[in-house]
Amino acid sequence: MGSNPTVSAKNTIKEIADERSKGLRKIDETCKDNRKCQKRDDQKARFLREEISHDYPDPAEEDQGKIMSIIVAGDIHGNFAFLNQVLNSHKKITMVLQCGDFGWWPRAHGKIFASGLNDFIKFDNYSLKNKDVKIFWCPGNHEDWEELIKLESENKWEIMPNVFYMPKGSTMDLPDGRKVLFMGGGLSIDAKDRIPRSGAFGWFWEETITQKDIEELPDEKIDIVISHTAPNEFVIPDYHAEYGHDPSRDALSYVLEKYKPPRWYFGHMHQFCKGIYNECKWIGLSSVGGFPGRWWVPLE
Ligand SMILES: [Fe+2]
Repeated sequence: MGSNPTVSAKNTIKEIADERSKGLRKIDETCKDNRKCQKRDDQKARFLREEISHDYPDPAEEDQGKIMSIIVAGDIHGNFAFLNQVLNSHKKITMVLQCGDFGWWPRAHGKIFASGLNDFIKFDNYSLKNKDVKIFWCPGNHEDWEELIKLESENKWEIMPNVFYMPKGSTMDLPDGRKVLFMGGGLSIDAKDRIPRSGAFGWFWEETITQKDIEELPDEKIDIVISHTAPNEFVIPDYHAEYGHDPSRDALSYVLEKYKPPRWYFGHMHQFCKGIYNECKWIGLSSVGGFPGRWWVPLE
């Protein structure tokens, strides 16, 4: 297995910002011209409604007979105890692919936060107890993007022992030979409540997928995509239009069209759902912390 990600070189923040403003316009144009986003309603009509599931089956029952060595996890938001618990109770797990909102907030490490009316917790950004389990995570919109940019500029991918940051467009090979593309990023629906670049929990414009990210995509066969949000083609139950237009979803539509991967996993929506779009079997994972539905599944 190629444990080290293939990573494209990134330019300076200024260059990326310039690219972004140009790029988002270009993505919108491309979307109109080539990706037939205007036909989304037709696609919805063709979509097999029964493929969308709101069921939350008992994991033990549903996972019977599946290979449990690799799992895919949804949003964690720095609540690593949940993942520790899964790893502790499923000893056959050797690898975790995580769909963003991992909770990389090193600047908040050791700080005290309110947790309920009279409870306080000391945030521990290094509390993962993964030991030999390899964890590969793509970025979400709830990360400290200034810290991620620092990692990228230093070519630093193993942020803790056996925990690998996988930037947008990076790839890895699974032991069975399948290639995984990590394509994190997504628009924050709570951006207005966060002060731009105000420390670990600020808002960072780098959170969305840019035209530059799209242009740097590798030209190779991709079998599985791990992303934070989802392509437009995946019909998400209860997805609220008032969340606004996320250009990352257009970019992921391009990724879907380019690679036509047979498998796709994402998080972000904090709900469990699944479906099939053409040949692509997709699963949207929920989040830890009381959100409905499964937040992790065995990789199929
Ligand atoms: Fe999230």
